[in-house]
Amino acid sequence: MLRKRRKNYLGPSLSLSYDEPLHIIKGKGQFLFDKNGKKYLDAVNNIQHVGHCHPKITEAFLNQNEKLNTNTRYLDETILNYAEALLEKLPAPLSKCYFTNSGSESNDLALRMARNRVKSLETIVLDGAYHGHLTSLIEVSPYKYNGLGGEGAVDHVHAVPMPDPYRGKYRGPDSGSSYANEIKTLLDELTSKGKKVSSFIAESVMGCGGQIFPPKGFINMAYEEVRRSGGVCIADEVQIGFGRLGEHFWGFESHDVVPDIVTLGKSIGNGHPLSVLVTTDEMAEDFNNGMEYFNSFGGNPVSCTIGIAVLEILEEEQLQENAMNVGSKLLSMLSDIKSRYSEIGDVRGKGLFMGIEFIQNKTNLEPDGRIASLVVNEMKNKGILLSTDGPDHNVIKIKPPLVFNDENAHYLAENLDATLSKVLEMRKNDI
Ligand SMILES: Cc1ncc(COP(=O)(O)O)c(C=O)c1O
Repeated sequence: MLRKRRKNYLGPSLSLSYDEPLHIIKGKGQFLFDKNGKKYLDAVNNIQHVGHCHPKITEAFLNQNEKLNTNTRYLDETILNYAEALLEKLPAPLSKCYFTNSGSESNDLALRMARNRVKSLETIVLDGAYHGHLTSLIEVSPYKYNGLGGEGAVDHVHAVPMPDPYRGKYRGPDSGSSYANEIKTLLDELTSKGKKVSSFIAESVMGCGGQIFPPKGFINMAYEEVRRSGGVCIADEVQIGFGRLGEHFWGFESHDVVPDIVTLGKSIGNGHPLSVLVTTDEMAEDFNNGMEYFNSFGGNPVSCTIGIAVLEILEEEQLQENAMNVGSKLLSMLSDIKSRYSEIGDVRGKGLFMGIEFIQNKTNLEPDGRIASLVVNEMKNKGILLSTDGPDHNVIKIKPPLVFNDENAHYLAENLDATLSKVLEMRKNDI
């Protein structure tokens, strides 16, 4: 019934998760509930970062909404309190905030700032990357422009190989410099054609690319090369920021770099449409060329109040530490499962951001998206929500709300083991 109404009223390019879609009507912490009251352990919604329907966020929203909601053309303390709290989490010289409503908007603004500074359109991206749904971002997202319905790269966008140390062009933990050399070669090529690079936009850990953890050294070397050529380094933290990776608050910190622009989204507002771009004084001054930056909703007091509540909850409930502790235990349980199934090629992760990569066999490492999809659908039937991603859709992603606990981790691992056995048995009988 709802599917029919959806078809009637919503554009057909929207997708639904799972072979049999869910009708979810309630959320609480790390759990979702469907219309029949069935409870699901949510291991995939990274937007509801501090848990579904957190009471402190509801309260913050209601209180501020009752008082005032306007825009940035009035003096207001809320936006300043939030900017101050957010900047405390970021290293110098990142010091100026621009408020937007989505990760896409932040990334679009980042490209605009970089292009304004360098006076060039040339942009370097990682193959397999996704940075948003606006026209400007489909253009810098090989995940989209090389995917279904995509029309390939535009002339000013240059993709370098995905820094995947498991199944990529160069393999192993020491492959960082080989991937960075690809960027150097590209930059030399651009120079020889009389072109300048405006920016390098990348996630420090790739999400849609398939939970890819670039080899050590790659991001630092890439930044060095790009900066040497006068380009701007943009870190897209939309999926991985706010303590998800456990050992650090931001993904870029694990590579010992400080970007020129950081873009934030998703978890920043726990589901509320709040996003921010943070940059340096110097970049901000350059961008101040007379054209006003105004955003009807960006930086409104209600959104900023929610942003403050998210930061407070992260501290009060020590969720970054929780991500590190629970994540490391889950990773070791998953590694144990991997050792028993030749179909699992790789298990990787940091904090509560993990990937389980399925392959056909350990000799050719060919992807097996079919098993990944069967497992995800079967796990859903058991009441555990996961998803697949990566260019071959053969990586199961785990990125739950950070309130995910030890018991949840055990439950997920036990069920994954049993489900994988069942799926493989079913497949054997099919053959
Ligand atoms: C890494 C990354 N950047 C940007 C975006 C775009 O964010 P939004 O959907 O809020 O526009 C996404 C969304 O999935 C993302 O994963």
